[in-house]
Amino acid sequence: MEGLRGPSDYSQEPTRHPSLRINAKTPFNAEATRDDLIASYITPVDFFFKRNHGPIPIVDDINSYYVSVGGLLENPKQLSLADIKKLPKYNVTATLQCAGNRRTEMSKTRTVRGVGWDVAAVSNAIWGGAKLADVLELVGISNHTAVTPSGGKHVEFISVDNCVEEHGGPYKASIALDQATNPAADVLLAYEMNGEVINRDHGYPLRVVVPGVIGARSVKWLDRIDIIEEECQGFFMQKDYKMFPPTVDWDNIIWSTRKPQMDFPVQSAICSFKDEDVVKQGKVTIAGYAVSGGGRGIERVDISVDGGKTWLEAHRFQKTDVPYVSGDTSSDKWAWVFFKADVEISGDAEIIAKAVDSSANVQPESIGAIWNLRGILNTSWHHIRLQVA
Ligand code: MTE
Repeated sequence: MEGLRGPSDYSQEPTRHPSLRINAKTPFNAEATRDDLIASYITPVDFFFKRNHGPIPIVDDINSYYVSVGGLLENPKQLSLADIKKLPKYNVTATLQCAGNRRTEMSKTRTVRGVGWDVAAVSNAIWGGAKLADVLELVGISNHTAVTPSGGKHVEFISVDNCVEEHGGPYKASIALDQATNPAADVLLAYEMNGEVINRDHGYPLRVVVPGVIGARSVKWLDRIDIIEEECQGFFMQKDYKMFPPTVDWDNIIWSTRKPQMDFPVQSAICSFKDEDVVKQGKVTIAGYAVSGGGRGIERVDISVDGGKTWLEAHRFQKTDVPYVSGDTSSDKWAWVFFKADVEISGDAEIIAKAVDSSANVQPESIGAIWNLRGILNTSWHHIRLQVA
């Protein structure tokens, strides 16, 4: 790991925007306020959620930085940033969502373990970089390969940060070789975010972006890529970020019974209000975001102002006020949509948002049905109680 270093303490953290809501200081975990989150379709870097498991790594010398590509590879290679930048550059607009988004709300139903997040552990950026499929082709693995001659079936990404959960070892994760070598999956090694050099918080000098998949697989501060036979055995693949049923608790959990979570399910949240906000009687605008994993578009966002008795369909858009049509080739396939609905409020109201994706998957009604001990993937209907002044 020449050129890139994972410090063991928090004395050299970057400065961050003062209006972020800090959920944990060390490691630094923070999200935008609801208003800031929906102020712009492309989330400004300052307001993009920050999810870390250790101190932020430092680049000592960018000229001696390289990514080692090895594992079950006949000819292991070391790629400098310049080598990666020589490959065709792609700009992919993709929403990253932490599996812990909306965990605080889930913990109100029944206690869960993990950092508490409101509704903004999700953000949308334009990632600039090389396609992983091209990088793998450069080291001799052709596109659309599910298994290499040496038996490699997964691609592991290894960082340099010191994670408590890894007993001081680095953060790592893997994805299937199939997905990694598919150019249409748009998996990137990104060196830019919103047109600028990616900053330290988000993975400088190079990070993985796996669109449509929980953020945990988008490894930051990339140090090594290994072609491996079995999926990554690291903590965050095997002992975390797995979805268990409500019957499983800490006294009866068997981690190996579940697969690491990859795609995220359909999600939406209202961001124009907080619970118990006081409004004037009359017209109010309900606004927020909706997103689904695996490249599935958002087919519909339904809004209720009477606790789910009746529903109306919200207006959806990506770029400012261009109506969004799921599956339209001009839409950003991997990105969230914003929604808006003007509704009349005559008295205290229970507002609900629920989204439907292009495969007709619908957000679950109750948290109870999807409660899980780590509090991941709270995608239940989003409720806001408004009081009339
Ligand atoms: N990569 C490294 N090296 N270390 C980390 O702690 N956190 C992961 C992922 N990649 C993490 C990492 C998790 S859980 C998420 S949700 C995303 O990064 C968050 O990316 P962001 O901080 O750029 O929003």
